[in-house]
Amino acid sequence: MSVVQAAHHTLTPLLEMRGISKAFPGVKALDQVDVILYPGTVTALIGENGAGKSTLVKILTGIYQPDGGEILVDGAPVEFGNADAAIRSGITAIHQETVLFDELSVAENIFLGHAPRDRLGLVNWAAMNARAAALLTSIDAPISPYTRLKDLSIAHRHLVAIARALSVEARVVIMDEPTAALSYKEVEDLFRIIERLKKQGKAILFISHKFEEVYEIAEHFVVFRDGRSIGSGLLSQTGQDEIVRMMVGRSVEHVFPKVDVTIGNTVLKVSGYSHPTEFDNISFDLHRGEILGLYGLVGAGRSELCQALFGITRPSAGMVELEGRPIALHSPRDAIAAGIVYVPEERGRHGVVLQMPIFQNISMATLGKTTRAGFLRQAEEFALARRYAERLDLRAAALSVPVGTLSGGNQQKVVVGKWLATRPKVIILDEPTKGIDIGSKAAVHAFMSELASEGLSVIMVSSELPEILGMSDRVLVMREGRMAGTWRRDELDAETLVRAATGNV
Ligand SMILES: Nc1ncnc2c1ncn2[C@@H]1O[C@H](COP(=O)(O)OP(=O)(O)OP(=O)(O)O)[C@@H](O)[C@H]1O
Ligand SMILES: [Mg+2]
Repeated sequence: MSVVQAAHHTLTPLLEMRGISKAFPGVKALDQVDVILYPGTVTALIGENGAGKSTLVKILTGIYQPDGGEILVDGAPVEFGNADAAIRSGITAIHQETVLFDELSVAENIFLGHAPRDRLGLVNWAAMNARAAALLTSIDAPISPYTRLKDLSIAHRHLVAIARALSVEARVVIMDEPTAALSYKEVEDLFRIIERLKKQGKAILFISHKFEEVYEIAEHFVVFRDGRSIGSGLLSQTGQDEIVRMMVGRSVEHVFPKVDVTIGNTVLKVSGYSHPTEFDNISFDLHRGEILGLYGLVGAGRSELCQALFGITRPSAGMVELEGRPIALHSPRDAIAAGIVYVPEERGRHGVVLQMPIFQNISMATLGKTTRAGFLRQAEEFALARRYAERLDLRAAALSVPVGTLSGGNQQKVVVGKWLATRPKVIILDEPTKGIDIGSKAAVHAFMSELASEGLSVIMVSSELPEILGMSDRVLVMREGRMAGTWRRDELDAETLVRAATGNV
């Protein structure tokens, strides 16, 4: 039996899930889990990558049907045959990978499938745009309803996803890793939205791998491990260590295992690098074995700088030298040929092929290295993939399953593994541990550290201060497209970096 404490004596549950189970071929994703949500309360759902969190969300929102168990709303059993039924029962969700449409406007994305209509059944565009504008204002999103989605930053897309979730009359709001792509400033904004929803009496299920956030915003918690509910209760009475033990079944070292590496010669020299709109006059050296942290607010130009270094966008001025020679970066192909690879923040775009097995995704970019003898190829691919999967703590039924069946965090590990496997000279990692759980994070960091000690040079974009502070030999802070400064590992502290990033000196 799971340990469900009677946390709130005074509140009646708004929503109860009892004994919910769900199996996929070869995986028992959920095994009789219990979750209770109360009105005006945030419940954090915590668990390792693959523990079953998103599966639960998909059951609650009618996307998947459970194999067993029951769902009660206000004490009465409900069944959701499809997503509309869940919405009619007042349940809405922001999914880990909310599908939004690049070519549509912000308002169309918010109201897709439930646009206000006139008497003839035609979409009432004026009403739709007005309601979208009102929704965006209510969450303090500085976005016009008319903007095409493709012109928005990742953080702003996220606000659109939130507005979409709130565009239906909902009593239960589910957020599956809503903060993964946000900087701390936007997390504050999101938390203000959540406080507002709480005051309106909504029940909120909040999924995050970041403990600081969980403790700040949630009152209750439920921990999942391997598809089971292991414990639940009040966060005010439960320490982080205790929760981590429930999650992983053992205690985990919280410090990042960064090892000291002898920093070698300059590998990459970037001078006066500028872009017409995104960044200006960026100069730095990257040495052999060095991890350079790139810190800044979302929108500071970090990702754009990385994309230029990978030949995706063209700079307007400046020079890049690799091992002392100027190089031209007109396309990603040029960059890869020179030994520079880039792991983007959005894994869908340049990341993985969801229908392809894990092992092929990992070896995809290294094909030159595994095709020496045709018939050996698959065995080699497998061996390579196995090594990377182990080092990155990848959790999968087998290396032959399609990446699309993995949990979000495990997909992220495949992306990182795929590019590391190409053994580049320089790897640029954009938010490498986004969505990765606390135990696996240490594994990913250890592997990065180890590859650095073998001579790999790393540029690591991260919005997480502990990751930047723990892993970087040096940190470059960007603010509004410009360099706000660089600091050596021994000069670093959180306050300095936040001040540099925000300009509050
Ligand atoms: N459509 C599917 N087909 C096959 N297996 C699936 C499918 N969806 C989920 N799974 C499996 O179910 C298990 C639970 O996955 P889920 O996505 O719920 O994990 P999670 O807790 O959300 O993890 P993360 O923190 O990485 O997002 C995993 O083993 C996953 O591979
Ligand atoms: Mg998930």
